Amino acid sequence: NKVVLAYSGGLDTSVIVPWLRENYGCEVVCFTADVGQGIKELDGLEAKAKASGACQLVVKDLKEEFVKDYIFPCLRAGAVYERKYLLGTSMARPVIAKAMVDVAREVGADAVSHGCTGKGNDQVRFELTFFALNPELNVVAPWREWDITGREDAIEYAKKHNVPVPVTKKSIYSRDRNLWHLSHEGDILEDPANEPKEDMYMMSVDPKDAPDEPQYVKIGIESGIPVSLDGKTYSPAELLATLNEIGGKHGIGRIDMVENRLVGMKSRGVYETPGGTILFNAVRELESLTLDRETIQVKDSLALKYAELVYAGRWFDPLRESMDAFMEKITETTTGSVTLKLYKGSISVTGRTSAYSLYREDISSFESGDIYNQADAAGFIRLYGLPMRVRAMLNKGI
Ligand code: ARG
Ligand code: SIN
Repeated sequence: NKVVLAYSGGLDTSVIVPWLRENYGCEVVCFTADVGQGIKELDGLEAKAKASGACQLVVKDLKEEFVKDYIFPCLRAGAVYERKYLLGTSMARPVIAKAMVDVAREVGADAVSHGCTGKGNDQVRFELTFFALNPELNVVAPWREWDITGREDAIEYAKKHNVPVPVTKKSIYSRDRNLWHLSHEGDILEDPANEPKEDMYMMSVDPKDAPDEPQYVKIGIESGIPVSLDGKTYSPAELLATLNEIGGKHGIGRIDMVENRLVGMKSRGVYETPGGTILFNAVRELESLTLDRETIQVKDSLALKYAELVYAGRWFDPLRESMDAFMEKITETTTGSVTLKLYKGSISVTGRTSAYSLYREDISSFESGDIYNQADAAGFIRLYGLPMRVRAMLNKGI
């Protein structure tokens, strides 16, 4: 038998390779997904996987699929977890896990494995995706089984099994990077009273070191999906990568929060989402023109549930898929452009236009027009306020 392992080339996943062979007697196919984490030395990675005992390394570039089919739907839905988190890691796990299911079929594997700990959300996201797409696959989660407890243990295990110990010094933080974001957890962040050190950040500059001149960006949006920047069309991944550069330079998109993990514990995390924060603001601003009051209210209330499902790993749940169909329909006319001003960590909107705008200057203007008749307001207010008048009459015995 054969197992497909989600492989990064770091110490932990390097040790999992011999561990799987020793404990399950199976061949190990390593799988690395490119979701924009910045894979260094791809050739080196294959040699490394084989040196650890893998029979094969499969690499797939998932960047465009990740942005187009996972990130943009969440953006269109306005999904934010617990008021702050833009779900960077949550969206990446299902696209990776789906590719693993495909690779398992391609190489004839009957099992899949990942290096997530037993304390986090990621294990749930991987495994719910495996369940949804191929319930026959066996799942092996070494962290929930083995007795390797720390880095020293892992290094010793690697040496005993003739696995080259990765030379890259492990960062003190637990990080997860992709095209949408970079997350930081662990070390001094574990005390929510500690301010992060400035040298922790990697995608964004300190707002105080950002340029003294603001930069304007004009985002073009079609049916709730961003398509262009300053009049130039980009592919989804290119657009996001470009905005990461711009946003990072202006110190945009840093979030520090304490969140509730699905497994019940609280966890403190810091996120950098420069391009994503720009896009999120742009879509929201355009909706202020294209959606009416009640539609925005219903959409926002569903967005909460949508975010919760994505956070909890339920991407391939028909509930999320159905909510997505709602989001697609409701944002059909969210087409137009938004201009944002980026300045030292802040985003201000300076302009929005849409051919489907529900805003009409001839109605809303303080200059008088003929569509809105001010005299109509008197009757409207009397009826709208009727329940208030009735209650007040009761109280006064009228
Ligand atoms: N807390 C975030 C989430 O649950 C980030 C998790 C980062 N994962 C990691 N393996 N470092 O989505
Ligand atoms: C992990 O346990 O792999 C990281 C944290 C998480 O999954 O939430």
